[in-house]
Amino acid sequence: MGLAALFIAEGLFVQSELSNTAQVLGELEGLSSAAQSMLKKAKTHEAIEAIRVEYLGKKGKVSLILKMMGQLPEGDRRELGLKANLVRDQIDSLIEDSVSSLEKRQRDAFLSESIDVSLPGSGRTLGYEHPLALMSKELLSVFQSLGFEIAHGPEIEHDFYNFEALNIPKDHPAREMQDTFYITPEVVLRTQTSPVQIRTMIAQKEPPIRIASPGRVFRRDQDITHSPIFHQIELLYVDKNVSFADLKGTLMIFIEQVFGKGLKMRMRPSYFPFTEPSAEVDMSCFACAQKGCRLCKGSGWIEILGAGMVDPEVLKSAQLDPEKVSGFAVGMGVERLAMLKYGISDIRHFYENDLRFLSQF
Ligand code: DAH
Repeated sequence: MGLAALFIAEGLFVQSELSNTAQVLGELEGLSSAAQSMLKKAKTHEAIEAIRVEYLGKKGKVSLILKMMGQLPEGDRRELGLKANLVRDQIDSLIEDSVSSLEKRQRDAFLSESIDVSLPGSGRTLGYEHPLALMSKELLSVFQSLGFEIAHGPEIEHDFYNFEALNIPKDHPAREMQDTFYITPEVVLRTQTSPVQIRTMIAQKEPPIRIASPGRVFRRDQDITHSPIFHQIELLYVDKNVSFADLKGTLMIFIEQVFGKGLKMRMRPSYFPFTEPSAEVDMSCFACAQKGCRLCKGSGWIEILGAGMVDPEVLKSAQLDPEKVSGFAVGMGVERLAMLKYGISDIRHFYENDLRFLSQF
């Protein structure tokens, strides 16, 4: 097919004779301004794309001229080729401009119509610390400020540390106080954090020994104030001349810092196999100033923990000489203290992961 016939077939030119280079040049000039005026009217991506295909597509107007270049007189090819490439680049950049101004218009329209920038954003809420974690942290920070170091022990414990070395031999009735999960006859889930006392004394050997040991403990026990898994913090202070007065002073500071100034403390004689003498420790009721209320069951006093002077037998089991050193020990339930402090009546709230409960602390 000759050049003229090709152009006619594509409907590019009205004239039937187009052998002359000047004429092709003229047609090329017209192409970019024609494309420009069409682009001005194009309001959608589809319309712009149609114009691109019409001019720069495989069978587009510019492409056809480039394709027939071979059929022009040799001397004219260079000038025409340069011009055709120039026109192609012009149209290309006109298209790019149209696309970006169309996108800008669309973006502006979207921003002004569908977004009310004065509406409040959708905020993200922070998570909450679990009340037991909060309580533990608070307790530990009080004890750390008094010089106690944090110590940990295993949850799966040998009978020796959990019972035997704490002066609770196999046939001792105190074993019944702590309904135990046995793994083997010699290995238990620890029923208390007290075994960390023994482990620390044996490991450290040299007093002063001053630890606060938090952790989970396990007992076959379940009702609204008891859970089979719960948390304790154990205190142990062993040194030369540690006295009952040191125990009392430590507990007074603890009560003041955790429950508030001006509360009273009382110690009632009690029994634990690993302490002698032993005491149950009460504080005056912070809810009613001892007038008597539901929290203190009318008595004005609230039991908060157990404590005592480390029994000489326990010191001996831990290879310490009771003639040279003495100590005090304290055991407290984190759930119990958190229930008192935050006014929680059912221990199961701690373990049910209800956000309505957990988000209150
Ligand atoms: N281990 C005891 C229990 O779980 C609590 C306890 C009482 C620990 C008195 C002590 C203590 O260190 O001196 O019931």
